[in-house]
Amino acid sequence: MEHDRHGARQPERFNPERAAGLNDRARFDYLPPKELISLLDVPPQGVLVDFGAGTGLYAIEMAALRPDIRVIGVDEQKKMLEFFAENYSRNPLKNLSSFWSKDEGYLRLKGTIDRILALNVLHELGDGAMAEIKALLKPSGQVLFVDWSSAIERPVGPPRDHVYSPEEGLARVQNFGFSVSKKQNFPYHYALLCGVKN
Ligand SMILES: C[S@@+](CC[C@H](N)C(=O)[O-])C[C@H]1O[C@@H](n2cnc3c(N)ncnc32)[C@H](O)[C@@H]1O
Repeated sequence: MEHDRHGARQPERFNPERAAGLNDRARFDYLPPKELISLLDVPPQGVLVDFGAGTGLYAIEMAALRPDIRVIGVDEQKKMLEFFAENYSRNPLKNLSSFWSKDEGYLRLKGTIDRILALNVLHELGDGAMAEIKALLKPSGQVLFVDWSSAIERPVGPPRDHVYSPEEGLARVQNFGFSVSKKQNFPYHYALLCGVKN
C-alpha cells in the first residue's frame, strides 16, 4: 500500500526520475550483495522479501546468489516496478518475482516471510510501513535494515538531513518493537538485523 509517511525522516516519496542511479553497479563496491546475503542468512528454501526493491538491482543479485530461496521484490510505486520488470527481463531468474504492495497476492504473504531486506528505505518508512514489515514476518523471521548514515560525509546518497544516524536508526526500529541481534557498519551505511520482540 502507499502509506502516509507519518514518522518517516524523509516524508517525500522516492522520485522515479532518479531510478537510473539505483542501477549503478558501482554501489556493490561499498555495499557488496554477498555481505548482505551473508548477514541475512536466509534458511534453505526460505523466502526473502526485498521491501522497497526499486529497480531490483539487489533483488536480482540475491536471487542469483541463492538459487535455493525465493526472492520477492515489493514496491509501492508501479513506475518502480516497471523498471524492475525491465531489469528482470534481462536477467530472468526462476526464483525471483515482484509485487505491487496493493496486490492481493502480496497481502496473502502476511506472516510467512523468513527474511526481509529493507535497503536504503528506512528513512522513507512511516509508521504504517514499519507495521507492515513486522506483519510480513514469521515468528522466527528477521529483517535487515540497511540505510545511509547521516553521521558520514558521503559523495553519494541522499543529503545527510534526510536520513538517520546509526543511533537514530536503532532507536526508530527499537521503538517499533524490533530487537536487534546484529549490527554492522559499511563505508556509507549502517545495518541492523532485527527480530520481532514477543
Ligand atoms: C531509495 S529507493 C531504494 C530501492 C532499492 N532498495 C535499492 O536500494 O536499490 C526506495 C524504494 O522504496 C520504495 N518504497 C518506499 N516506501 C515503501 C513502502 N512503504 N512500501 C513499498 N515500497 C516502498 C520506493 O518506491 C523506492 O522504490
